[in-house]
Amino acid sequence: MEEKSVAIDGPSCAGKSTLARMAADRFKMIYVDTGALYRCVGLSAMREGIASKDAAGVISMLGGLNIEMRYSGDGTQRMFVNGADVTGDIRLPETSVYASDVSAIPAVRAFLFDMQKEMARKYDVIMDGRDIGTVVMPDAGLKIYLTAPSAVRAARRYRELTEKSIGTTYEDVLRDMNYRDKNDRLRAIAPLTVAADAIVVDTADIGLDESLERVCTIIGERFGL
Ligand code: DC
Repeated sequence: MEEKSVAIDGPSCAGKSTLARMAADRFKMIYVDTGALYRCVGLSAMREGIASKDAAGVISMLGGLNIEMRYSGDGTQRMFVNGADVTGDIRLPETSVYASDVSAIPAVRAFLFDMQKEMARKYDVIMDGRDIGTVVMPDAGLKIYLTAPSAVRAARRYRELTEKSIGTTYEDVLRDMNYRDKNDRLRAIAPLTVAADAIVVDTADIGLDESLERVCTIIGERFGL
């Protein structure tokens, strides 16, 4: 199925999830948010009091971890850890850094790989993450790399969190984002990088509507939709 699928990669808060979800809705494809999987592992480690960089501790936890992606009627992806719905909890800012740290552990990536591969095999997906076009779906029919400068991304995320009444400051958001950018780009395994055949879309100077039109035009042209 990969040949009719779309891989969207890019740094944190570049708008990948929002745009991928909206594009999937328009083209009746399945949207898969792979960051949510790493967030589930990060959240679980955090709750069990395991340090995010304690690879041995995190690995020992994986055996008892059952992560599920479930889709509700409207196509919304909900995340479950050992049967409990953690969809909201994995979005809290403290989970982001944990997710980034545990994602650098090779065993964690291996643990989550099959689930992503299975989705790509079964459906025409729009899948977003960091290594989708390079590792998870190297044969994707279309690869998009979505990006924007960190100050722009941090301002967007700060606004989003504030709207949800999640207390934080712009400086904290920018600091966490810079940390994650570095972590995700420099890790030894499956680092964030632009796939050789990816189309780069920079959303710095364009709003959500225009970004969506640009992404949908690229998808439509590639697949004749
Ligand atoms: O997309 P996100 O911000 O929800 O992802 C959270 C973290 O998970 C991110 O900092 C790095 C990691 N991640 C990854 O390593 N590979 C992916 N395909 C998706 C996310």
